[in-house]
Amino acid sequence: MAQAILPRIGLGTFRLKEQEVIDSVSSALELGYRHIDTAQMYENEAAVGKAIRESGVPRDDIFLTTKVWYDRLQGDDLIKSLEESLEKLGVDQVDLALIHWPSPKGEVPMAEYIGNLDEARKRGMTKHIGISNFTIAQVDEALSVPGGEHIITNQVEVHPFLGNHALVSHCQARGVQVTGYMPLAVGKVMKEPVLQEIANEHGVTPAQVALAWVAARDIVVIPSSTKPAHQRANLAALDLELSSDEMARIDALDAGERIANPDFAPEWDD
Ligand SMILES: NC(=O)c1ccc[n+]([C@@H]2O[C@H](COP(=O)([O-])OP(=O)(O)OC[C@H]3O[C@@H](n4cnc5c(N)ncnc54)[C@H](OP(=O)(O)O)[C@@H]3O)[C@@H](O)[C@H]2O)c1
Repeated sequence: MAQAILPRIGLGTFRLKEQEVIDSVSSALELGYRHIDTAQMYENEAAVGKAIRESGVPRDDIFLTTKVWYDRLQGDDLIKSLEESLEKLGVDQVDLALIHWPSPKGEVPMAEYIGNLDEARKRGMTKHIGISNFTIAQVDEALSVPGGEHIITNQVEVHPFLGNHALVSHCQARGVQVTGYMPLAVGKVMKEPVLQEIANEHGVTPAQVALAWVAARDIVVIPSSTKPAHQRANLAALDLELSSDEMARIDALDAGERIANPDFAPEWDD
C-alpha cells in the first residue's frame, strides 16, 4: 500500500529563494538527495526546476513534491494552480501534489478539492496525491471522498517539541505515510540539553538525533539546509540508531509546541 513510496528523506525549500535555493538543491542532489519538497507558496518553483535540470540527475530519479495553496482550491482553479507549478518547475509531471492546508473553515468542500486533485493525477500532472496539515477528522474525511483512496501522505509538523503522536498513529493505522516537516524545529533542536547529551554519547549533533528520532517513527523527514555540511549530516542521520531509552527521553520533550500555526489553521488534535 502507500508505505515506502516516498524516499525517507527529502530536502525542504521553504523560505529559500533564487540563488540560495538553486545552490541548496544543487548541492543536495550532488550529495545523493533524491527527494525535493517545494510549494506554489514558496515562490521558488522556477529556481528549484532550474537546479534540477542543471544537476544532470535524470528527472525520473528525483521525487518532486509541490503543493497547492489554500486560495486555489475552488473548482478549476486547483488544476490551473498545478499547471502553473508544472510550468514554473519546467516538468510535465510532479511525483506528488499536496493540498498545502485544508480549506479554512471548510469553505471549499473537501469532496470538491480532493476530487480535483485526483483529476490532476488522472490527467498525469502528478504521480501521487496527498494532503498537508490535515487533522485526524480531516484525514478520515479526505480518505472517504471519491479520489481520497489515492492519498499517500499527510505532511505535518513533527519534531521533538511537537510529537504529534495521536495524528501520526492515526495516519499510520490508516495506511497514510506521515511526512514530518520542520523536523529540526527550524534549528531549535540544536540548543536542547537532552538532545545535546544523546548527541555527545553518539558523537553526532542534536540535529542528527532529532532526525533519527523522527525517522525511527517511520516518518519521512524533509529538513531544509543551505549548507552542504548540514545536508550531508542530515543524510547520515538516517543511519543513527537510538535505543528505546533514548527514544523515550526524546518523547518526553513533547510540549505540544507548534511553530506553523497561522490563523487559517484547522482546530488541531492536540
Ligand atoms: N506543509 C507545510 O505546511 C510546511 C510548513 C513548514 C515547512 N514545510 C516543509 O518542511 C521543510 C523543513 O522545515 P523548515 O525548513 O521550516 O525547518 P527545519 O528543517 O526544521 O529547520 C531548518 C533550519 O535548520 C538548520 N539546519 C539544517 N540542518 C542542520 C544541521 N544538520 N545542523 C544545524 N542546523 C541545521 C537550517 O540552517 P542551515 O541552512 O544553516 O543549515 C535551517 O535554519 C520546509 O523547508 C518545507 O519544505 C512544510
